[in-house]
Formats: sequence, structure tokens, C-alpha cells
Amino acid sequence: MDMEWYASMPKIELHAHLNGSIRDSTLLELARGLGEKGDIVFSDVEQVIMKNDRSLSEVFKLFDLIHIITTDHETVTRITREVIEDFAAENVVYLELRTTPKRNDCKGMSKRSYVEAVLEGIRSVNSVEVDLSDEVVNPDTATSHVVGDISNGEASKKVYVRLLLSIDRRETAEAAMETVKLALELRNMGIVGIDLSGNPVVGEWKTFLPALEFAKKQGLSVTLHCGEVYNPDEIRAMLDFLPKRIGHACCFGEDEWKTLKTLGIAVEICLTSNIRTESVASVEVHHFADLYETNHPLILCTDDSGVFSTTLSAEYLLASSAFGLGRMEMFELSRKGIDYIFASDRVKRELKLKFDILSHLGL
Ligand code: IMP
Ligand code: ZN
Repeated sequence: MDMEWYASMPKIELHAHLNGSIRDSTLLELARGLGEKGDIVFSDVEQVIMKNDRSLSEVFKLFDLIHIITTDHETVTRITREVIEDFAAENVVYLELRTTPKRNDCKGMSKRSYVEAVLEGIRSVNSVEVDLSDEVVNPDTATSHVVGDISNGEASKKVYVRLLLSIDRRETAEAAMETVKLALELRNMGIVGIDLSGNPVVGEWKTFLPALEFAKKQGLSVTLHCGEVYNPDEIRAMLDFLPKRIGHACCFGEDEWKTLKTLGIAVEICLTSNIRTESVASVEVHHFADLYETNHPLILCTDDSGVFSTTLSAEYLLASSAFGLGRMEMFELSRKGIDYIFASDRVKRELKLKFDILSHLGL
């Protein structure tokens, strides 16, 4: 019953990595195809894909494997379409998807053509209407459109999708800058920001700072994976940078919490990911509880729904049962996420309207 409720509730997803959100069935199908060509040994890969408990370092080994399986334009387009359809099917009404632009010379792939393949995937979704553009819309039409959606009983049949380009911590300062410039070139096409991610024990903050400063100066929004491992100097430097949001915040000390709360930086919370990778010992001791109680901005997200076998609805259900929160409190938590999206005020207005109407309808 509760799972049905959380699946039907409108939700905002702000922290989902494209290659971490692939359906197992698709990953296995693609791996089987490569196995038949002799490029990989399918049975070895199958075992890795189906394994459920992974440490943080094992997760990054799995990503290297996934990237071998997904590196051509058609596959990138396909997985993007499927990921959006899966989120939309569980009533995610706003999805900020992030992915690392990849260059792969032997497939004729540049960072730009990779991102174009992702955009093509977004445009090719047909199970649901996709809003990928921040062009000015006539407010009257926008309003009637939102209301019209709902009066037809099809409130969830539209999903707003925006893209963040990720910088991988293995990259050089130049490669990071290339990604930011690409985001700027394509910003009219639904790209709204930059993410810093990748193995947290690799790379140094100072390498990425010039590209991230440049992104900020040019008006792109920035979110950082922050405090996935114990590294107080880096956490402080990241908070000094004043990103709009951070992901995880698992290994914060008292001083870092104080700074974060004073600055009011929103936190993307990924419960299952943190527990599976043992970044947090158990859901009972997760910092969600403290952030929620102190009314600090937080957004429940999946991180890697494929890799961690979860859904956004399951994350809401988990939070509700672990922290004793009712349906209305979870609905409100989801609605508050609208304030932290990177898309325009027009999208925020439309989403708020949608949530308000649904709330009046008793959902
Ligand atoms: P992609 O950017 O679409 O290829 O998604 C996979 C990539 O996201 C990985 O290679 C990592 O760089 C990043 N990523 C996914 N999950 C995590 C995480 O939990 N911590 C840090 N980086 C992550
Ligand atoms: Zn992440």
C-alpha cells in the first residue's frame, strides 16, 4: 500500500547518474551482445552486474565495466531514453540527470557527440511528454497546460528533464574546462549545470576549481559530491566555493556541519547508496534525521538506481519507515525540492502549481 502511494506521489529527482541508472535487463542484454562478439566474457560480467553488495571502491570498478558496455552513440541514446521512461513511470515529474561526457576515439565519439547522443535519447522518449527547454512560454498556456494535465487524470504524463554534465575526478584541469565549455555551448538545449563526481579518493580539489569557478561565473549551477570519504580540508574548500547543492555529506565533522548549516547549502540525500557503499553504517544513524529535524534543505535522490537496485519511490518509503514520517510529510519534502532545482523560475512555478493541485485533490 505504502509503496503504491510513494510510486503515485509526484517526485523530484536531482541526483541520478545516467550510467548508474541503467536497467539490469538492458545491461545484461548489451553485455551478452559484446560477449557474443568476443569483446568480453559474458559470465564474468554477469556476476559483477548481478552482485548486490558493493563497497565504494567496487562501485567504481563496476562503472568502468558499465562504460565498456555502453560506449557507442546508439547505446547512449537508448539508455537515456529508458532511464527517463523508468523515472517517469514512477511519477518523477522533474528529473535532473547527470552524466560524464566521454571521448572514445575508436567509436568516433567526442565529448560533444556523447552529449548529443544523450540529448537525442531525451528527445526520443515517447511514453511521456518531455519538457527539455527553458524557452519563455506564455504563462497562460503554461498554467492551462498544467491544469489540463491534471484534470485529464494524467498529472504524471509530463516530465521536465534537465541535464548536468559531470566532471570525473580522474580528469585533468583541461578536460574539466572542456566539459564546462561544452555545457555552455549547449546550455539552450537543457543543460543547466555541472557536477563533480567520481572516486572520492582520486584527484584533488584544486585541479577542478578553475573550471568550476568559470562555470559559476558564466551562470551555470554547480553541485559537488562532497564528504563521501573523510577529508575535512577538501570538505571545507568545497563549502567555501558555495555550490548550490552538494551530494552525500556522509563524512562531516561538527565544524563542517556548522558551516553547511550556516550557509544553507541543500544536500542531495541518497540513503540506499550510502548504506550499500558503507559510507554510513545504517539508515538509523543516517544524517537525514538531523537535517530533517533542523529543517535544513534536503532532497531524497537515488544516485544510481541500477547499481543499487532502488527507485526513488523506494527511497521515499525507506525514509518514511526509518524516520517515522507520514505520507503528507513525505509529500511536503518532495515539494520543497522544487526550490533547489537548477531549471528556470517558469519550471518552478509550473511544478509548484502541479503539487498544489495534487495536494488539493488529496494525493
Ligand atoms: P555517467 O557519468 O553517466 O557515466 O555515470 C557513472 C559515473 O558517475 C561514474 O563513473 C562516477 O564518475 C559517477 N558516480 C556514480 N555514482 C557515484 C558515487 O556514488 N560517487 C561518486 N561518483 C559517482
Ligand atoms: Zn552520485
